[in-house]
This record gives sequence, C-alpha cells and structure tokens, in this order.
Amino acid sequence: MARILTGIQSSGRPHLGNILGAIKPAIDLSKQPDNESFLFIADLHSLTSLKDGPTRREYIRAVAATWLAFGLDTQKNTFWRQSRVPEHTELAWYLDCFTPVPMLQNATSYKDKVAKLGEQSASAGLFTYPVLQAADILLYDANIVPVGKDQRQHLEMTRDIASSFNHQYSEEVFVLPEARIDERLMTIPGIDGQKMSKSYNNYVDIFLPANELYKVVKKIVSDSTPLEAPKNPDKDITFQLYSLIASDEQVADMRRKYEAGNYGYGHAKKELYELIIDRFATERERFNYYMDNNDALEAELQAGEEKARAIASRTIARVRETLGFN
Ligand code: TRP
Repeated sequence: MARILTGIQSSGRPHLGNILGAIKPAIDLSKQPDNESFLFIADLHSLTSLKDGPTRREYIRAVAATWLAFGLDTQKNTFWRQSRVPEHTELAWYLDCFTPVPMLQNATSYKDKVAKLGEQSASAGLFTYPVLQAADILLYDANIVPVGKDQRQHLEMTRDIASSFNHQYSEEVFVLPEARIDERLMTIPGIDGQKMSKSYNNYVDIFLPANELYKVVKKIVSDSTPLEAPKNPDKDITFQLYSLIASDEQVADMRRKYEAGNYGYGHAKKELYELIIDRFATERERFNYYMDNNDALEAELQAGEEKARAIASRTIARVRETLGFN
C-alpha cells in the first residue's frame, strides 16, 4: 500500500483550473485500490501570506467543501486541516534545528518572494516555510508526494533534512519520500487565454449562482470572426474549455458547428455554460450543502483530524524518544 500525501493550498475558492488540474486527478489517484491518500489543507502555510482571519476561515471551508463535493472518500483516505493537528508545528520546530540556514536561503520560492516584496516584508515564517512542509510529509511516513514542478525543490529539502536527521542518530526515524511531479502540464486556460489563475483574475468559479456563472462565461475572450464565417475551434478559448469537460461526441459536435459557420461565439458560450451547469450539477449541489451546513463539514474534517492525529502522535513519540524529550 503506497501512502500518498499532499498539501492543499487554501488561498482562495477553488476554480475550474484547480479542479481539473489538481483536485480531480488527486481524487482519481486516491481511488486506486493500492493507494491510501493523505490530503490536508495547508492552512498554516497560508498564514505566510494571508493575515485576515474571516477570509482564511471562508477559504478553508470552500476548499474542504470542494474536495467533498468532488467525491473524496474520507473513509478510505484521510482529510484534515493542518492547523488542527499540532504535531505539524511541533515537528517543524525539531526539524528547524536540523535545517542549515543556507539551504533555506537558497530556496527559489523564498528568493522569488523576496525579490518581489523586498527583504523587509519577508517573515521568519516565510523563510521556514519549507521546514513546515517537510514536517507535514515526514509526520505521516509518506512514500509518494504528488506535486507541481514548482515544489520539486521543497521535496528535495525534505529528503535532505530527513536523511541528515536519520544519519545523525544512525536510525531510520523518517521515511524518505519521493516526489511525483506531473509533467503532463495540464494547463487550463483562463477566460483571457493565459493560464487560469486566481492572481490573473481570469478564472471560472463553477460554484457561482447560474446567472453569475453565465456572466463570467460570456466574458471569455474571442476574436472578431463574423457570425456567418467558419471558425477555427483550436484557436478559441471557449472551445478549449468546452473540450476539457465535454464528452468526445459533444466535442466533435461543437467542432463541426465551428467549422460550418453560422455559429457564433455567443452560441458556443451558451453551450459551455449549460454544460458546466449540467456536468457539475451534483458537485454544485454538494458544495452548497457543505457551505450551508457547517456542522456536516466540521464532522467530516474532525473525523479526519482524529485519524491524522493517531498517526502523527506516533511519529512524534518516536522523534521525542530519539531526541530525549520523552
Ligand atoms: N507548498 C505546497 C504548495 O504550495 C503546499 C504544501 C504544504 C504541500 N505542505 C505540503 C505539498 C506537503 C505537498 C506536501 O502547493
């Protein structure tokens, strides 16, 4: 049984790009019989950038509701909030004391943020972000960590910290995790054609009320080919987004309409909007259910937190024993 672990950012309400690029693939992976997935909301990490409490609470709930809406099996897998399992921060401190400062100074993610914001606004939390991430992983003896390319260095740091700890005590206290980097580069275009991203404000929030969702879909950028003229579907964002959600038959159908002419971008957008509503009807309903029923959402998360703590506390006991804190 491979233990797969990944941290989920809680920096906003998940959009179609997050769902197709990360959430659905992770849920598919968790369904394979030989896998057991550990998925947690990295809400402590979000504190390095987001300081507002109510916003954080809202984002955490929306992220949790999205994963549950898309059918994550919380019985088979473990799903929790990092902040509710204090062993994450405890282990992070121990690991801090085994992490060379130059290694952190060399982290690309840190250097990029400092370059953007200036050294003055870089907190110690931002600096030690990779150590908390290492703690997240090592706490659960994870074998495989599926992450994006930008996280490759953080995984290398995790392995370095773990192996120098193991080496120092001549013990196998920590399991060395492997990164699984998805190279297939599933980039979902946003409504302006750039990569769909919260920071570009070009995302499609599939959980919006129907009329607001339609307004967003109507804003998808298209060229000025007249209604009557045939159109090239492969150059059009609406068609690209439609293709990511529709069945093969529906895609072939829309392709024919583009190429035949007398089919406008407005028509295509209406079809895309209708498809989103139709295709994600269950998910939209479940998302709203969890957003409206905080008790149900809490029950799921707290059950996950209990499972996570049972494992985390065993690892911490092992570490305390090694360090003489027991
Ligand atoms: N840093 C990761 C990201 O930005 C999120 C994360 C936190 C994570 N802890 C983790 C990912 C542990 C994998 C394993 O996406």
